[in-house]
Amino acid sequence: MANAKFQAVALGALALVVILVLPLQMSAQKAADTNVTFTKDVAPILQEKCQACHRADSMAPMSLVTYEESRPWAKAIRERVITRQMPPWHIDKTVGIQQFKNDRSLTDAQIATMVKWVDAGAPKSVPAVALDAWYKPVVPTGLTEPRWVRAIEIHPATVKGRKVTHHALARLQQEDPSLTRASIDTADDAGGGVGGLFMEWAVGKQGEIMRPNSGKLMLPGSKIIFEMHYHAIGEPITDHVELGIYFYPKGQEPKYRQTLAALQSVAGGSRNIDIAPESTFVSQNFIPLRQAGRVENFQPHMHLRGKAMSMEAILPNGQTMMLSNVDRFNFNWHLNYVYADDAAPLLPKGTILKITSWYDNTAANPNNPDPNQWVGFGDRTVDEMGHAWVNITYMSDEDYQTEVAKKKAASQE
Ligand code: HEC
Repeated sequence: MANAKFQAVALGALALVVILVLPLQMSAQKAADTNVTFTKDVAPILQEKCQACHRADSMAPMSLVTYEESRPWAKAIRERVITRQMPPWHIDKTVGIQQFKNDRSLTDAQIATMVKWVDAGAPKSVPAVALDAWYKPVVPTGLTEPRWVRAIEIHPATVKGRKVTHHALARLQQEDPSLTRASIDTADDAGGGVGGLFMEWAVGKQGEIMRPNSGKLMLPGSKIIFEMHYHAIGEPITDHVELGIYFYPKGQEPKYRQTLAALQSVAGGSRNIDIAPESTFVSQNFIPLRQAGRVENFQPHMHLRGKAMSMEAILPNGQTMMLSNVDRFNFNWHLNYVYADDAAPLLPKGTILKITSWYDNTAANPNNPDPNQWVGFGDRTVDEMGHAWVNITYMSDEDYQTEVAKKKAASQE
């Protein structure tokens, strides 16, 4: 097990800028070009969508930075992008919200470009552009007073550690009486305890930056619970994971509080999961919003039998909206789908969030370790769970009306 270190830092805006990775836009024009080359067409796509993982000493098995590194993988790249196995992005593209802040999936034009490149014999041209590196120093500190958080990042501390860390999660646990079931009903069997507030991140992400004037509240005496998933690569490596927390300046309180909740997908809680051998299982749960709010993200959590999870909103007027459907859930990837600013749904008080999860305990599920076993709730990956980590920014009815009006105005511009 690794040595999980909790480190926090008071921030400068500079550090924030460093962790933002600016995507290079591939124009559709380029994709239509007849002469597709590595340097001109493929390298920018790799840089934007692949190199967060596929570079030296990162988590993926090979680097896709230079032409020399990428060329031998041309056939495999073609296969993986056509089947949409790479980059990992398992959300159903036919329903729900499609604008995400952290979308790493390929556009149809980008896939066409890569396929064209491989089919043309994977030609080069001039040397590839180098990748921007990001790094920020952190200093250890203890928390003795409440602080508002405006950004969070987690990553392995050493270069070698990146090779072996498949994902690293960190949760914040704290007793917060003001939140206890006040805003939202969540069952307490997701690993938390009543009144506990959680944050959760996984490696491969670019960190989480709150919207202007909103933040998360960390209380004195809070704890970080780490969960790391390592994979061996044939050499002994020692590592620890660092968590960077960026605070608002002391005394500056954001107007909106974001809270992360584990929204149960199983009615009555995960303990009601009951999956017979050789069978499938579906469960739904309905969670009322006791305050208006903006839903910021969707991060399904299940284990090896997990197949799909969706989140719908049932509005007080009865209208149902599909927010997101992860139809190809894969336990190896703790993907968080973070809605883009103007796509994040604003929901009135009284909205019901409907979370549905599907499980496959048959041999047709390639991740199933044993279809002959009965499966119930538990922490082990061979047991099951069902919840979605969802950040909600709560607001008063008045602020809700203001936000709705703002959104309307923006969409009419
Ligand atoms: C979030 C991290 C991540 C991103 C982003 C990502 N990959 Fe991967 N990739 C991996 C990991 C981890 C593996 C090994 C596990 C697996 O095969 O699924 C892998 C495996 C592969 C393989 C198979 C290698 C083999 O051994 O056959 C190919 C090809 C590939 N990736 C191409 C790409 C391309 C092309 C992109 C961008 C368009 C991309 N990947 C984006 C993490 C990533």
